[in-house]
Amino acid sequence: MQKIDSILIENRIFEPDETFRLKANISFADYEEMCEQAQNDYEGFWGNLARMHLDWDQPFTRVLNEDKAPFYRWFEDGKINVSFNCLDRHLHELSDKPAIIFESDEGTVTSVTYAELHRQVCIFANGLKSLGLVSSDRVIIYMPMSIEVIVAMQACARIGLIHSVVFGGFSAKSLSERIADARAKLVITADEGMRGGRAIPLKSTCDEALTHAEVESVERVIVYRRTGGNCQFNAPRDIWWDDVIASQSPVCEAIALDAEHPLYILYTSGSTGKPKGVQHSSAGYLLGAILSMQWTFDYKPDDVFWCTADVGWVTGHTYVAYGPLAVGATQVMFEGTPTWPHSGRFWEMISRHRVTVFYTAPTAIRSLIKLGPDLPLTYDLKSLRLIGTVGEPINPEAWMWYYNKVGGGRCPVVDTWWQTETGSHMIAPLPGAISTKPGSCTRPLPGIMADVVNEKGQSVEDGSGGMLVIKRPFPSQLRTLWNDPERFCHVYFPKNFGGRWYLAGDSAHRDSDGYFWIMGRIDDVLNVSGHRLGTMEIESALVAHPFVAEAAVVGREHEIKGESIVAFVVLKGKMPDEAEADKMAIELSCWVTEQIGSIARPDEIRFGENLPKTRSGKIMRRLLRSIARREDIQSDISTLENPQILAQLSRASGNTIV
Ligand code: WT7
Repeated sequence: MQKIDSILIENRIFEPDETFRLKANISFADYEEMCEQAQNDYEGFWGNLARMHLDWDQPFTRVLNEDKAPFYRWFEDGKINVSFNCLDRHLHELSDKPAIIFESDEGTVTSVTYAELHRQVCIFANGLKSLGLVSSDRVIIYMPMSIEVIVAMQACARIGLIHSVVFGGFSAKSLSERIADARAKLVITADEGMRGGRAIPLKSTCDEALTHAEVESVERVIVYRRTGGNCQFNAPRDIWWDDVIASQSPVCEAIALDAEHPLYILYTSGSTGKPKGVQHSSAGYLLGAILSMQWTFDYKPDDVFWCTADVGWVTGHTYVAYGPLAVGATQVMFEGTPTWPHSGRFWEMISRHRVTVFYTAPTAIRSLIKLGPDLPLTYDLKSLRLIGTVGEPINPEAWMWYYNKVGGGRCPVVDTWWQTETGSHMIAPLPGAISTKPGSCTRPLPGIMADVVNEKGQSVEDGSGGMLVIKRPFPSQLRTLWNDPERFCHVYFPKNFGGRWYLAGDSAHRDSDGYFWIMGRIDDVLNVSGHRLGTMEIESALVAHPFVAEAAVVGREHEIKGESIVAFVVLKGKMPDEAEADKMAIELSCWVTEQIGSIARPDEIRFGENLPKTRSGKIMRRLLRSIARREDIQSDISTLENPQILAQLSRASGNTIV
């Protein structure tokens, strides 16, 4: 492996394992045929799949409506219910099949069958109705990983409520912004969550969020008792989960909803300070979830599927809450962290539950390599037949380790590229058809018209970098940004590409075999441990501190997290001396945690009298990036207004926060 101009050249190639290939859902011939069908008859291709994989209450007659592009509409005159497709339709054959095997942080295992999950969803949906919620009302879910969080999401889908799950690691302020933007009537939370032996005070964070003036829309708060720990209970606003379900009927018809009815809103970071409310549809989204379960994960009825993502992220929506249930899979769900109570927890769980398909993030893989490179070998991982990754580029060494030590050299590794906005996998190997190369997400799925283009929109030559675009609309893509259709248009469908191509925001290159290599974001978005964070968001949090005049945030490569956060700060008073700077750095990092959540905590803060700026006052981030990486500044600084500031910021050793 070598790096040329930051383009990774990797020559190792892994053919699909023979035994795997023979049983795979999609062969290479199938793959080619599907790609060709999609080329020749795009709408016919998607229409057939939607008829084949989804149960409709009313069939659609029109596949794709592009009249109001980029506000595309798929299967629009069809009626469907996502919860029906995830539960009811399996009941005649799979009612006794385990749907979820849940393992708590402490290791307690609880499982529910499809019949039981269906019953719980119906009861809870009736409970939601009894609180006066009606179709299209928004519901914020701020819960730990649990069977109940799936019940809550599925119950919303059953009666047309639009959920917005907020990750339990977000602060009261972030939570309140999301509640306010969604104008949610209801919040569903828990007393506390448990992660790595520590209690997470969800209810008290929620109470704090609800004191913010802008969240007046919330009428009720449902509290699921997870730990029984202390929490405030403000009746009549608050109501216990158990009281919501008490004496509710287990019969609740799934409402036939429009195919385009919003299933959920999920907030994600962009290049401005304000999070974007990514809005997904019902039918198109679910189709993407199902197809990727079948195609990328090669789903088989006797699989035990385990995606380790939290439901607070899109991966946990598509590959925990919806995809596995929609195909009738048995899945493992985990409340805790990979390293508690010991760093073999993932491997122990794979072996305990006989997991066959395992899906996790490169950051978890890298931290587990560090904690026990040979640890997987001491567990029985023979049940595994396929392993996947998502969230950020995986470095070839980590890929090789995953392949050899976890997959025993026999399981295909599926490196899946996609985004909150795309809803499901876009570029990923079909494991029985496509050979893999460590570090590449390989080729687009059938029907996904991905390309790499330059500023003028021309496809770049193989091997050169450019912007990743998707040139035709696809069913699982976001429909709009909640409350912000204009931002939706200009961020994702820029005018210079005719307003029709989906701009992913990533740079990539394609090699001579047509394989895609993702190089990173082209906007001011960082990827820290697979979580997306806008630099502006962190900067806004910093400047909201009374002592801060200005702040700029950049990313620096990090061995485990992929990227870490380095902040450059100008204080309002005079430059702090070393001792003051240390104190201030700690103060500011706690402040950011309070404002956004611990995932946004800077790893290093440097103070200066100013930031490097152009004569027009624009901060030169490129230079800050070099300083953060402790590189010599070799690039052109002729446009820099205040060159002396570089020396100051480079000298400042940086206050590493431990
Ligand atoms: C961004 C999307 C998709 C669920 C998790 C993250 C990066 C994601 C890969 C991959 C290289 C990847 C991209 C993308 N990314 N998967 N397999 N290889 N990069 O969802 O928070 O919406 O972030 O994550 O930069 O744009 P997200």
